[in-house]
Amino acid sequence: MAFHPASTLGQLPPGALTEVSIEGKQIALCNVEGVIHAIDGVCPHRSGPLAEGALHGTMVVCPWHAWEFDCVTGRHDYNPGIQLETYQVKVEGDDILVELP
Ligand code: FES
Repeated sequence: MAFHPASTLGQLPPGALTEVSIEGKQIALCNVEGVIHAIDGVCPHRSGPLAEGALHGTMVVCPWHAWEFDCVTGRHDYNPGIQLETYQVKVEGDDILVELP
């Protein structure tokens, strides 16, 4: 387990959603009222780019077919059998770091 530099608070203001690539893995980073969360960036439906969708509160909406996932828990909004990986995040100064297994 190691934390990797992912972005900065300056690049990810509250309400923002962005994709980062860490060691070849697509991760969606979201800023919910100043708290940063990280989930898998690839939609499990048809591999849509989640970070190119919208962020409504804690919900990330896939841009392709509008599946929704909670960026805090990684859970699909109505199917509990669909769960995205979530990642630990820490902020050091302006730097956002994401822990990958
Ligand atoms: S690819 Fe995400 S909802 Fe279809």
